[in-house]
Amino acid sequence: MPLLRSAFIALSRNRLLRRFSEHSSIGTRLSSRFVAGLEIEDALRVAESVNKQGMAVTLDSLGESVTSELEAYKAAEIYHRLLDAIAERKLNANISVKLTQMGLELSPQLAEGIADDLAQRAAAAGSFVRMDMEDSSLTQITLDIVRRLHARPELRGAIGIVIQSYLYRSQSDVEQLIADGIRVRLCKGAYKEPSDVAFPSKADVDSNFIRLSCMLLESPIYHGLATHDEAMIAAAKSFAAQHRIDPSRFEFQMLFGIRADLQRRLVREGFNVRVYVPFGREWYPYFMRRLAERPANVIFLAKNFFRF
Ligand code: FDA
Repeated sequence: MPLLRSAFIALSRNRLLRRFSEHSSIGTRLSSRFVAGLEIEDALRVAESVNKQGMAVTLDSLGESVTSELEAYKAAEIYHRLLDAIAERKLNANISVKLTQMGLELSPQLAEGIADDLAQRAAAAGSFVRMDMEDSSLTQITLDIVRRLHARPELRGAIGIVIQSYLYRSQSDVEQLIADGIRVRLCKGAYKEPSDVAFPSKADVDSNFIRLSCMLLESPIYHGLATHDEAMIAAAKSFAAQHRIDPSRFEFQMLFGIRADLQRRLVREGFNVRVYVPFGREWYPYFMRRLAERPANVIFLAKNFFRF
């Protein structure tokens, strides 16, 4: 299985396959398993329907690692339109943003400026910007940017970050973020990382996820636990029950198209659930990371493909 995971992660960076897939109707058809659609309107329609099922949403306009300033501004413009639409339609939704889509690899100042504008727009609309976390070469700079923005009084509470339990450093990052009052989304981590920065074994990633979940749940800040793993969810529920932490003080987060049954069950049990809804034409790297997490999805997709 780890070999298949590495193979899919390597494929997620293959430019030729990406170009072919994103421009083919077969590819677009397959991606609809995990992606809400190609246009903003598709994402808003899904958000509305998820809200009607009693769950909140975070919207992700797919794309990463832009290669020009113009592309970064265009990507940001979509997020500004999303924030406006969220406010106009009174959706229970916020946005998830990747700093490399905002030009981080071209210029950290460019990405920070764009993130600043988005956070200001979100703060004014009573919404929120979550900075997704990318590979470990970007962890420190992502933390630095989010901390600097969050330290500004007008942006306090309007910007948050993601922490990955596979990284050794995450426990000390979580301690610092709690001290700073910054909202965290905890996930296991989706990139291929070397063993000098990340736990190689799933058992260690899982026990770190549980350890960090408990630290977050105990803090006075509203955090998100992002996982489809029933063992992680059970551990969080049991810790919250033992420590009399009310379910209104945190949320579970899951990806669109994955374990919808579990999402609905948690809502019925009285927990807050937020669904991560990605959309857009640049779906290929996101889609391949989802296959990497569960290679059995390839068989599932193949079966469904012939049923269309
Ligand atoms: P794990 O991979 O151990 O899977 C547990 C079970 O969940 C599986 O047995 C299966 O039942 C189900 N499952 C998991 N993945 C599945 C899939 N693709 N298809 C079908 N079933 C699946 N990562 C990152 O590095 N940076 C980020 O910013 C984010 N953001 C983010 C937001 C949200 C809301 C979620 C849910 C996840 C992320 N991630 C992420 C991805 C995360 O790091 C991780 O790769 C996936 O969530 C898979 O890990 P699980 O915790 O679900 O457990």
